[in-house]
Amino acid sequence: MSFSPYDRPVRAAFVGLGRVYDLNIRAYAGNPDVEVVALVDPSDERRTQRQADWPEARAFASVAELAASGLEVDAVEALLPIPLHSDTVIEMLGSGWHVNLQKPICNDLAGAERMIEAAETSGKQLRVMENYLFYEPLQKLKATVDSGELGEVSGYHVKMVASGLGGWDVPGSTYEWQFQQARGGRGTLVFDDGWHKLSTAIWLFGPVKEVRAWIGNTEVIPGIDVDAPSTLVWEHVNGIRGIFDITLAVDMYLRSDYYTNDERWEITGRRGYARVNRCTGRGIQQPSLEVYVDGEMRSYHALDDDWASSFRDSGRHWLRWLHTGEGPMLWSAAESVEVLRFALAAYASSDAGGTGFDPVSLD
Ligand SMILES: NC(=O)c1ccc[n+]([C@@H]2O[C@H](COP(=O)([O-])OP(=O)(O)OC[C@H]3O[C@@H](n4cnc5c(N)ncnc54)[C@H](O)[C@@H]3O)[C@@H](O)[C@H]2O)c1
Repeated sequence: MSFSPYDRPVRAAFVGLGRVYDLNIRAYAGNPDVEVVALVDPSDERRTQRQADWPEARAFASVAELAASGLEVDAVEALLPIPLHSDTVIEMLGSGWHVNLQKPICNDLAGAERMIEAAETSGKQLRVMENYLFYEPLQKLKATVDSGELGEVSGYHVKMVASGLGGWDVPGSTYEWQFQQARGGRGTLVFDDGWHKLSTAIWLFGPVKEVRAWIGNTEVIPGIDVDAPSTLVWEHVNGIRGIFDITLAVDMYLRSDYYTNDERWEITGRRGYARVNRCTGRGIQQPSLEVYVDGEMRSYHALDDDWASSFRDSGRHWLRWLHTGEGPMLWSAAESVEVLRFALAAYASSDAGGTGFDPVSLD
């Protein structure tokens, strides 16, 4: 698809001004690549609150109102509840705007195909942002693996403990969308948060050829279920195996400036291992990356391990990309469909009692 890079600040609109806006705004604040011209959210309260950040921007209650206003917009930062992704993204592409969408792309392959078709028809770019790929300790982990210093990789695991206490406030309305997702078989820990972990797997070791999963369920309060304990295992095309272990610690306090995720990535090679000790929360109070090789441990004390910085850098990457059209988008819509297929293969496997599924084979 042809794309003409911008040689002036991109005129951008935020669509969806909820919880995650507080992180995505970091890419836009003080960035000469962009001018924020519009804010869209049906909530009066949200529009009033966010207008203070962008006094010059015009505020609208819907995408349709913005499109009808005649205001010139080049690109949209789409921060919408997941069930709205497909239809609203198609509407925005049809309005002639490039779209930087929060993950997951959407809930199923049919919706993703419709979105990609809409991007092709409109000639606009659709990116599905993946901030974890911009988290400096994970970038350094990848660089360590790629350097070969761990030796040939033997395997790796990713761990997520969802704790119930600590972190920032998440509005009840945000949870309502998550519960709707869970009722539709797309739980928060495997699909919404898990999306990031599956993304990092593909980013680190390439395409996946087989996925096996055992997705559990815990009722945390009457009527509210969470998709843990869950275990996903897989093999990449290159033969490397990964494991994703998801557990729930409802009564555990976790210090965090954001969500209460206690996360780790540990890659074992023939000569040593490398481990990222934390990401979203401040779980293990050690250097965020440690590398052990030949009897020596190297600790990284000066990486930017504030999780919010990954949003800043992912958003800046997109806004710069719009000025060059060069290099990987991290992710393009087509790449994000690989992540979707990975997650759907896990559901198919769990439904089938744990047998292996090739993500490419799913309809
Ligand atoms: N990258 C990450 O780590 C991360 C973290 C949290 C959330 N997210 C993703 O960000 C997205 C939004 O999540 P959130 O937690 O901010 O949700 P939220 O519910 O807090 O915010 C969504 C906002 O969209 C508004 N909205 C609803 N319908 C709309 C419409 N038709 N047009 C415009 N605005 C509309 C709501 O009023 C609300 O203000 C989701 O895709 C979620 O998966 C990503």
